[in-house]
Amino acid sequence: MSGLFITATDTEVGKTVITGALAAALRQRGLAVGVMKPVASGGVTSQDGKLLAEDATFLMRAAGLAESERSYVNPVCLAPALTPAVAAVESGVTINVPDLVAACRCLLNRYPMALIEGVGGITAPIWEEYLVVDLMAELALPALVVARPNLGTINHTVLTVDYARRRGIKVAGIIINGWDEAKAGVLERSNLAYIERLTGVPVLGKFPYSPDISVPKAKVTDLAALAEQHLAIDRIIELLGGTDHAGH
Ligand SMILES: Nc1ncnc2c1ncn2[C@@H]1O[C@H](COP(=O)(O)OP(=O)(O)OP(=O)(O)O)[C@@H](O)[C@H]1O
Ligand SMILES: [Mg+2]
Repeated sequence: MSGLFITATDTEVGKTVITGALAAALRQRGLAVGVMKPVASGGVTSQDGKLLAEDATFLMRAAGLAESERSYVNPVCLAPALTPAVAAVESGVTINVPDLVAACRCLLNRYPMALIEGVGGITAPIWEEYLVVDLMAELALPALVVARPNLGTINHTVLTVDYARRRGIKVAGIIINGWDEAKAGVLERSNLAYIERLTGVPVLGKFPYSPDISVPKAKVTDLAALAEQHLAIDRIIELLGGTDHAGH
């Protein structure tokens, strides 16, 4: 059992895209990788009336997992697009925290390696005062922080890393999502340098925006190739304690 927990500096920063990209690259290298979105809100109702999390659909497609894995990948799916603790209360659902932690451990035991996506940012409430950071601390997995390239990202990223560390969580890397190499100027480049300098955490990739990728449309075109090109996949595999079957 080995895993990484993928959090971000905010909601909508790109946790699902980056988690999917990593999963697709690992799968392409011949590694069996599990993915998980322990709690999702903003679920959408399918044609046959099931409440489904778009994040789980995207992650499963990227990792090549069958639909039958969905209950392991996403044990809790809530309809309101609110932080899970509030979405649960609004929809009359109780989130049992020990059950949720057990579901994460079950997924981690089901696959040789797994990538677990958080919800929102690191202090998003999952249930009452139980926050994403509490789940991260309990699972004791190394964390990756997905961050934006633009103005404000130094503050968000440094605070996120510091908050995780205070809880004993090892932050193994930062991944910048939405990087545009051609347009990156002094703002983006100095952000990156400052983030590494102030946190001491390496940036393990700068992932571009791609019109062929979409979480709501479950579009995963070229995800593995983009990950190989822009993310430090060898280092990620090392963090997962795995060997690369393709001999890279
Ligand atoms: N590199 C990218 N290329 C194309 N689209 C992207 C990229 N990164 C993010 N997006 C789009 O931006 C939106 C937010 O990304 P994503 O869903 O990965 O964020 P998130 O951090 O997982 O959000 P949440 O907190 O809701 O789980 C999605 O609609 C996704 O398709
Ligand atoms: Mg997501």
